[in-house]
Amino acid sequence: MRPQKVIVLGATGTIGRRTLDVLKQLQGSDPTWDCIGMACGSRVDQILEQSQSHWPAAKLASMVDDDRPDFCGPDAALHLVEACATPETIVVSAIVGSAGLRPTLRAIELGASVALANKETLVCAGNLVQEALKTSSGTLWPVDSEHAAIAQCLRGIRSEQIKSIVLTASGGPFQDTPLADLQNVTPDQALNHPVWNMGPRITIDSATMANKALELVEAHHLFGVTDQQLHAIVHPGSLVHGMVHLHDGTTLMQMSAPDMAGPIRWALTAGEHDAAVAPTFDPAELTNLRFSAVDPTRFPFVDLGFEVIRKGGGAGCVLNAADEVCVQAFLDGRLPYLEVYHHVAEAVDRFGHHAPSSLTDILELDIAVREDVANRFS
Ligand SMILES: NC(=O)c1ccc[n+]([C@@H]2O[C@H](COP(=O)([O-])OP(=O)(O)OC[C@H]3O[C@@H](n4cnc5c(N)ncnc54)[C@H](OP(=O)(O)O)[C@@H]3O)[C@@H](O)[C@H]2O)c1
Repeated sequence: MRPQKVIVLGATGTIGRRTLDVLKQLQGSDPTWDCIGMACGSRVDQILEQSQSHWPAAKLASMVDDDRPDFCGPDAALHLVEACATPETIVVSAIVGSAGLRPTLRAIELGASVALANKETLVCAGNLVQEALKTSSGTLWPVDSEHAAIAQCLRGIRSEQIKSIVLTASGGPFQDTPLADLQNVTPDQALNHPVWNMGPRITIDSATMANKALELVEAHHLFGVTDQQLHAIVHPGSLVHGMVHLHDGTTLMQMSAPDMAGPIRWALTAGEHDAAVAPTFDPAELTNLRFSAVDPTRFPFVDLGFEVIRKGGGAGCVLNAADEVCVQAFLDGRLPYLEVYHHVAEAVDRFGHHAPSSLTDILELDIAVREDVANRFS
């Protein structure tokens, strides 16, 4: 029987809350679905309210010191996983940033299935994740809409049949902004995403397309394809989430409404498409399926993503750590929008040759990059 006991890491975030919505829907038709654990960062009141209103049995974890959750402190999410994750559970990894790495990896090691929204885990430690999966009884289900789409396209497809994989990108709020105006972009403008409602870090990353760079690295690890086999394309409607070109000229695409409930439910139910999470499209109304090439001047992050794949080793960890620091500095008004890319690219140049071989090495590299980048504009 597939796992129906769910642990939600990042339960107070955009993906975490949507996961709990989906879980309520699942529980409505099958009461054995339950949330047995929830972890947050600092929004303790919110996680307590979520648990009291619907998930009274859930163990709670929070980063901040508070006597109400069962686990508190910087490693609270990890301790929650160690206490609750088993081969009978599914762990939804929806903490933002590299903070999600250790609890996610531990969940895989403990044999739990993982619904992975935290792409940073694969970007920073893709090789370790693949190693851990070899001996784990659990399965990794991508929740990123593009990767869930590709995984759906790849059902029944052998790796040697794949010519290339295409990730779509909405283009974000600045797809048509004159290039000269980008230097004056404010956090409020960058947070105003035209399609998706997401947490602040991924929203800024969608504006710069650092998110697509991270997703290319994620796809490289998930699907075992090279940089030459990966492409990104702008598709403002966000209806087609991913495509797979096969060697015989066939292209498989996955389409669905831009609502994360779809990939979340697909991951939780181990690939079932068993109930409506969105209305079915009427093909006659699909008159606006536009696609265009990524402009490398406007979105240089995409090429940086390819460079990071080619470098391998610790380059993904460097890309992520530098980007996390720069996005926070931009949101705080300490770094201009266009400087985000420059600082991240320079960090990849300076640190990209590192080849961490263990989790400890990766975490040390993560800290070293953060300190170095933060010192450059403080
Ligand atoms: N949003 C989307 O549509 C979307 C789509 C695909 C993939 N993703 C990925 O999903 C992940 C979450 O994104 P999001 O948009 O949901 O972000 P978000 O809304 O900012 O939520 C982040 C969550 O992480 C928690 N958190 C932050 N630092 C933590 C720490 N050190 N320990 C424990 N919990 C911590 C936050 O807790 P507090 O609330 O207490 O601070 C919150 O619950 C990211 O990796 C993102 O790339 C998101």
